[in-house]
Amino acid sequence: MTGNLFSMALAILTVFEHSNGLAPINEPPTWSRDVAPILYKHCVSCHRPGEVGPFSLISYNDSKKRAKFINELVSTNRMPPWKPELGHGSFQDEMRLSDKEKETLSQWVNGGTPEGNAKDIPKLPAKTSGWKLGEPDMVITMPKPFDIPNEGNDIYQCFVIPLNLNKDEGVIAVDFQPGNKKVVHHAIMFLDHNGQARRKADPKTGSYASFGGPGYIPTGSIGAWAPGARPAFLPEGTARFLKKGSDLVLQVHYHPSGKAETDQSKLGIYFAKKPPEHFVGAVALRSRALVIPAGDAKYTVETKTVPLPVDATALGIFPHMHYIGREIKVDAKLPDGKEIPLIWIRDWDFNWQGAYNYKKPIELPKGTVLKLRATYDNSTANPRNPSNPPREVTWGEQTTDEMCLCGVQVITKSRDDMKQIMRMPGGIIGLILGGGGVPETPEEIAENTKNRGKRMVETLLGEFDMDGDGLISKEELKRFPPENRDRAVLFLRVMGKMKD
Ligand code: HEC
Repeated sequence: MTGNLFSMALAILTVFEHSNGLAPINEPPTWSRDVAPILYKHCVSCHRPGEVGPFSLISYNDSKKRAKFINELVSTNRMPPWKPELGHGSFQDEMRLSDKEKETLSQWVNGGTPEGNAKDIPKLPAKTSGWKLGEPDMVITMPKPFDIPNEGNDIYQCFVIPLNLNKDEGVIAVDFQPGNKKVVHHAIMFLDHNGQARRKADPKTGSYASFGGPGYIPTGSIGAWAPGARPAFLPEGTARFLKKGSDLVLQVHYHPSGKAETDQSKLGIYFAKKPPEHFVGAVALRSRALVIPAGDAKYTVETKTVPLPVDATALGIFPHMHYIGREIKVDAKLPDGKEIPLIWIRDWDFNWQGAYNYKKPIELPKGTVLKLRATYDNSTANPRNPSNPPREVTWGEQTTDEMCLCGVQVITKSRDDMKQIMRMPGGIIGLILGGGGVPETPEEIAENTKNRGKRMVETLLGEFDMDGDGLISKEELKRFPPENRDRAVLFLRVMGKMKD
């Protein structure tokens, strides 16, 4: 009887301690009771058969085999693949372990990886499939399966898919569903209403290869997807503008899995039921003035926007660099001098780029300046450097080129305010990164085209006027992408901003 009572008390104590997430004193955590709940919560959405992770972490043996490696990656924040630094923006769907969970993992490894009692293993979370936001208004499937060879370089394929819309729409959510999660690494959903992408596509596959960007100037986008991202509706009354006649240009990044695979991904689109009050746009931060010397391990670029012409509210952020990008940090400097961190990625990995949505929208009053700082490692010590030996790297679309780009997705108080955001330097890039801006009348479009030369010159001054004399010299323009340099010189001369 006493013995029973004693073991009951012990059981209660254990349950109590377990509910606290604490292992009993002096007893290392066990896999079944303490570690499995952590892996099931933070890892198995990717690390289970058929998902993007290279191995399963469902069973004790799976985990034990890699215990040290798991502990190392988790303690250095390399897994789960969540890049933004804590305290620099608070985002939806953050994938992050608590310090206590990390501590439990390392105690388990240091304690000799005990298995524990099978009856403590929690239930494996069900695989999520199907449309998470209910039946979409429109489902788009890649017209044909696409073949991914067993090995070789990653593939960036753009599938041009007509949407056949006969009226303009407001997109309030998109649910991208990879057809083959073992090979689909991420996807970006660009738009085109000028038929540019159609002309690039191989008629046989309805697609073409293009690294980085989609290889033409998109007329908007409806979102991006990376493993771990969950679909969500934009705030009430807010939508992305989707012009009738647009094609979807779905850029999918494939990573060969070791076996020949095929993929036929699909996406569900949700339209606004009544005319949206706000259309989203974006403020772009960009520096094309990159000349990264071969061997330079810490090349730094800084850029900032002109002061925001109107009040804006930031909903999300989308930083972009290529392989030798190492760090990117974006802050907002408010007119009262206060600084708000928008994002900081200290360990940039091209393979884990994403669009991040703020948990709570961030108010950016008129006059706010957005600032970006990025660093690049073009040395041989950087294992991600695609050039060996390193070579001088400038702005461009190839794997061996670089970019320095960030879109801050915003809404404004009125549609006229959004038009002012769209007229900021780099406005076109903003539309691509953040949505589609607001619809405009043909007169407004004509007026806007007239002012393009002026804005292009403003943009050039912002990006390339290194000595700040208000003029651009030939030397400064050496950093400008060569394919468009003649046009830039022409505009600068017409506006009297060319130095020599
Ligand atoms: C969102 C998907 C995702 C989640 C969540 C995730 N992983 Fe991974 N993991 C991957 C992918 C994909 C790879 C392959 C390498 C890469 O692409 O970075 C990987 C690689 C690894 C590797 C091997 C790394 C290497 O260099 O070979 C380990 C170990 C690992 N993950 C452990 C974990 C652990 C532990 C967790 C949970 C704490 C976790 N992962 C959560 C997707 C994920």
